[in-house]
Amino acid sequence: MKIINANDGLNELELEEIKNTLLNDEIIIFPTETVYGIGANALSETGVTKIFKAKKRAIDNPLIVHVSDYEMILRCVKEINEIEEQLIKAFMPGPFTLILPKKDIIPSCVTANLDSVGIRMPNNKIAHDIIAYCNMPIAAPSANVSTKPSGTNIADIIDEFSEVPLIIDGDESLIGLESTVVKVIDGIPTILRPGKITKEDIIAVTNKCEYGKNINDLVTGVALSPGLKYKHYAPNAKTILIYNDDLNKMISLINSYITIDTVVIGFDEHQNLITTNKFISLGKANNLEEISHNIFSALRKADKMNPDLIIIEGVEKNGLGIAIMNRLIKASSHNFIS
Ligand code: TXA
Ligand code: MG
Repeated sequence: MKIINANDGLNELELEEIKNTLLNDEIIIFPTETVYGIGANALSETGVTKIFKAKKRAIDNPLIVHVSDYEMILRCVKEINEIEEQLIKAFMPGPFTLILPKKDIIPSCVTANLDSVGIRMPNNKIAHDIIAYCNMPIAAPSANVSTKPSGTNIADIIDEFSEVPLIIDGDESLIGLESTVVKVIDGIPTILRPGKITKEDIIAVTNKCEYGKNINDLVTGVALSPGLKYKHYAPNAKTILIYNDDLNKMISLINSYITIDTVVIGFDEHQNLITTNKFISLGKANNLEEISHNIFSALRKADKMNPDLIIIEGVEKNGLGIAIMNRLIKASSHNFIS
């Protein structure tokens, strides 16, 4: 395994090495603005198969294909309607994935035999430079073994991926939550996975937007986005999520569950109200950006403390809070107390 430090960008020699690795059907770990990706040449079945193996990912869960520009989207998809054009113009590059009808050039193992493909154009210089230099669409799911929290820095994930030959270190992921996944269904942009780009952001562009069924019904809803039916983001320890509008109620609920071995993941302002000395901060209670940035590393850190229980403080389901609660509800395997 080789690690390239890319904090000051990638030079041509390094880009050439990355290109050769991908052309040899090998996999790489690379940064994006959302979370780290584990990627392969999207046009190589051999490469893509290695991603599924390294992640222990179910083969019926499709991968996102990363591109560097509009021309590369056209190489991967059959057609783009007017609403989809508006969404691309507004949100790409950015933390946004659009499901579009795929061309045959994309192997069916990438899309789990679906006739659509998720397209994303990362807004991260390192990711952009790799895709543009290689002139190659890169299939990449989040860099974490299936069911584990997504990787937002190299230190967190390096042990999970000892067999990956090349890792590009770009420091901590800026956003920390995966992209918003959207499919236009019967003319309506439909959110299959909430993220930094919110329903309100999309309505501002297209005048309409809905949540997919599975966002409201995370357990039994029809799995429009196949990944949503799996256990996800889960620490090894039993985990509960607690949220109540009434701060006093919420704090006493949290305190009622705490034992000597319990870790609490919560907000700075509440630390001295919570009766544990095993406290991990997500940041300030009203700073949703900071909270999303810290979520996945906090979950991993909590697990390493060998707790009997992890308690997570929730946020109001509003704006970016919807994506945050979506991940936390899954991390707690739906043990949500309010
Ligand atoms: O921010 C992100 O999206 C990160 C970075 C690396 O780009 N990637 C990521 O990939 O989160 P992954 O594989 O962990 O999640 C992709 C999600 C899954 O829920 C998958 O089921 C869904 O997108 N998806 C992919 N292709 C799809 C398709 N054709 N139709 C419906 N859902 C799709
Ligand atoms: Mg993932």
